[in-house]
Amino acid sequence: MKQRVLSGMRPTGALHLGHYHGALKNWVRLQDDYECFYFVADWHALTTHYEEREVMGRYVYDMVIDWIAAGLDPDRSTIFIQSRVLEHAELFTLLAMGTPLGWLERVPTYKDQIEKLKDRDLATYGFLGYPLLQAADILIYKAAYVPVGEDQASHVELTREIARRFNHLYGRVPGFEGLVASALAKLGKDDARYYEKQRKAFGESGDEQALAKGEAVVRKAAVVLGAEETELLLGNLRGAGRTILPEPQAMHTEVTKLPGLDGAKMSKSYGNAIAMREEPALVEQKIRRMPTDPQRVRRTDPGDPGRCPVWQFHQVYSSSDTREWVVKGCRSAGIGCLECKQPVIDAILREQQPWRDRAAPLLADPKRVRDIVEAGTERARGIAQQTMHDVRAAMGLAY
Ligand code: TRP
Ligand code: SF4
Repeated sequence: MKQRVLSGMRPTGALHLGHYHGALKNWVRLQDDYECFYFVADWHALTTHYEEREVMGRYVYDMVIDWIAAGLDPDRSTIFIQSRVLEHAELFTLLAMGTPLGWLERVPTYKDQIEKLKDRDLATYGFLGYPLLQAADILIYKAAYVPVGEDQASHVELTREIARRFNHLYGRVPGFEGLVASALAKLGKDDARYYEKQRKAFGESGDEQALAKGEAVVRKAAVVLGAEETELLLGNLRGAGRTILPEPQAMHTEVTKLPGLDGAKMSKSYGNAIAMREEPALVEQKIRRMPTDPQRVRRTDPGDPGRCPVWQFHQVYSSSDTREWVVKGCRSAGIGCLECKQPVIDAILREQQPWRDRAAPLLADPKRVRDIVEAGTERARGIAQQTMHDVRAAMGLAY
């Protein structure tokens, strides 16, 4: 059985090279070793872009085409859309009931983003709930690993806390406390008090000796208790109820940071991006117009790759031989900047070719993409429904 990996991306339209190198490339790789679930986080997009209703439909499918173009294989990975699996919203609602407000207010991205996106009103209930919705996305599939960037680490951490709290609150059979009390009565007053003391000590400080002492008292009384109550008291000693929502782990794999054409973070809104399926002529033009070392004004001026964004592209795209040629040629003014850029242009065009090839049949037949997403959504929904069945029962909602 392969372990399950789950991740999502907000639909921002056609993806660029920064998305590919920073995340997507890794998603593709993970397909070999994990059962992968990848979804379009369209509700998350709405937490910040709730006024923009035209873009969503097109952006969703453009992004899925890029995923498949990059090498996501719909036969191996489950590709789906968040808003088409309503169970995410149900789990979000149920988790919201017991989530302390402070947990959400303290998530670092919350104040950060409000500061950064000053032109939007993010003092909304939905935006505060962003990481809780993300927790629901993850927990509903009982994912073992969540590949995300460092910026999302706090969201996975919150997810773990939410799962822990949920299991603590609801991971017990109905009437659990009563059952424990009646089993304890069979131990006798002194042993019962001793047991309680050890349970507290272990629960509060993880004291393993206390755990062992508590277990010894229970085992001593095993004959009187019978198998079921022995199990019950041993489980209670560890504070363990049933694990209904397993805690996921963040997966921070090495990713390649590709900056934008101007050296800043690559982003469509900064106008410094190259789309994954950018027209070849445009790729060439964009690279040729890229700024270089600002101190290398004339062809005869020596330059310093350290000051040049083109060099950062060479670090992602070029072999060590080429990189050596760049460093020498730049510092000695032996090569011109256009000459220096050519291997980068060639490498990007080479990288993009298979993406174009895989995207072409999907662009020609949009129904195929929709069918892929439909099948993935069905599969995802089946699992989400099973989890919700357990969650409802655990919360006493199974009338
Ligand atoms: N917040 C993530 C991002 O901005 C997107 C996302 C939503 C996500 N739900 C998720 C990622 C669940 C991983 C798991 O990139
Ligand atoms: Fe940049 Fe290359 Fe020009 Fe040097 S030669 S400034 S590395 S583009």
